[in-house]
Amino acid sequence: MRKGFPEGFLWGGATSASQVEGGWNEGGRGLDTQDCRPVGRGLTRAQKNSWDHKQMTTGKFERAIACTTTSEADGSCDYPFRQGSDEYHRWEEDLDLFAEMGMKIYRLSVSWSRIFPNGDDPEPNREGLEYYRRILAGCHERGMKVFLTMLHYAVPVHLVKTLGGWKNRAMVDQYLRLAKTLFTEFGDLVDYWLPFNEMNAGRFNPYNGVALIKDQEENYDQAIFQALHHEFLASALATKMAHEMLPGSQVGCMIARFCHYPATCKPEDQLQQLHDEQYTNWFYTDVMARGIYPEYMERYFDSKGIVIDMEPGDLDVLREGTVDFVSFSYYFTQLSTVDEGWEKTDGNLVVAAANPYLPKSEWGWQQDPMGLRITLNQLWDRYRKPLFVAENGLGATDVLEADGSVHDPYRIKYLRDHIAAMRDAVEDGVDVIGYTIWGIIDLVSCGSIEMSKRYGVIYVDADDECNGTYDRYKKDSFAWYQHCIATNGADL
Ligand code: BG6
Repeated sequence: MRKGFPEGFLWGGATSASQVEGGWNEGGRGLDTQDCRPVGRGLTRAQKNSWDHKQMTTGKFERAIACTTTSEADGSCDYPFRQGSDEYHRWEEDLDLFAEMGMKIYRLSVSWSRIFPNGDDPEPNREGLEYYRRILAGCHERGMKVFLTMLHYAVPVHLVKTLGGWKNRAMVDQYLRLAKTLFTEFGDLVDYWLPFNEMNAGRFNPYNGVALIKDQEENYDQAIFQALHHEFLASALATKMAHEMLPGSQVGCMIARFCHYPATCKPEDQLQQLHDEQYTNWFYTDVMARGIYPEYMERYFDSKGIVIDMEPGDLDVLREGTVDFVSFSYYFTQLSTVDEGWEKTDGNLVVAAANPYLPKSEWGWQQDPMGLRITLNQLWDRYRKPLFVAENGLGATDVLEADGSVHDPYRIKYLRDHIAAMRDAVEDGVDVIGYTIWGIIDLVSCGSIEMSKRYGVIYVDADDECNGTYDRYKKDSFAWYQHCIATNGADL
């Protein structure tokens, strides 16, 4: 039996450019879709979490494009993604802190519009490339490997205006120009490539995942799955390109993993659980890891009147572009039930059926460390490919004390319990190669667009309206994770 984490296990932290970087109008960067997501001032937590508030509309989009600062002049709303956590100006300090913690790997994403400001520019923006070369090289200089997400939700607005997002097949070519540029420029600096963050987000948050604005779509579901088909092609072609240009390169896929338990032992709930797993999880990883469109989706598409427009050769592309490893984000689990009146709670990207046995975070996300062990076993059984926990962490309200300390025992407990469950999975025989805490440094929440939902083991002094010094402070969880890494997860 295996004991504990293997030598060389990749302990790290994760961020995304739109949430951490800032510098939205510097260095030749163009505007992207995340820069356009407003958060209304004075809203309650429930209002910020409501679907209406998260939804992009043509009106909001146009208004955001016209706004040239981080807040509307009338004070009605802010655009916090434009400021992020100011890593653009503080990346050296951040990397020093990560290295001090002993991190073995940093998962970060590039901003597409920092490299191609409009997406379709004939040449990349050298200043953007130089910024990323500095930060990626800076990781290696400090002994950290690099896990690079090539697209984490943020698409240049020009591509949305001219192509209408991923429902347009022309997006594939634009994306592949980005991919080729990244492989050419950073092939010597990236250890693990991730063509897309959370592929299934396209289904659950179509603005983030596939750059669709709902009121511009006549048939939303059709557009979503067509757009996903284009992302699958782009992912497979990028994977193949990486393997050809950079022999031996490691390219992965990623989903937001929604682990479902049947709410009761009723056969109907069991069947619902099977379908929930297929439609929310397996579909995406089956395409990218097995290289096939699974049969169960034919019936699903038929029931919704969805017809995927494919060109000859598309299925070959998917078959030839399968990934080397499978990664996922893991935050919570939920129930599957046919009972429409079952109590609901919030979860990452979705509203979930509540499980009476699980505690919830302040944001209603059900905490379930054992579900991580279950998920890892299920993924390993199905694909037999190395697994990477690309995101896991606790969004919570933290308090910066007068002496600069932040006491976050709740986060330490969350991380300890999840890492212990991951260690159990390793001892079950699952091949887990790495774990990156989400939001290793506080950043703007993707779902509710606010700084006050904090994930970091490093505190950033900024509020929801982009006020603050943006100075960094170590939370208690910083020293805890440092010790966890130093003992290779043996002493939690
Ligand atoms: C994942 C995303 O879905 O969840 C991240 O990849 C996101 O971008 C994370 O930040 C946590 O979600 P939230 O809404 O709490 O920021």
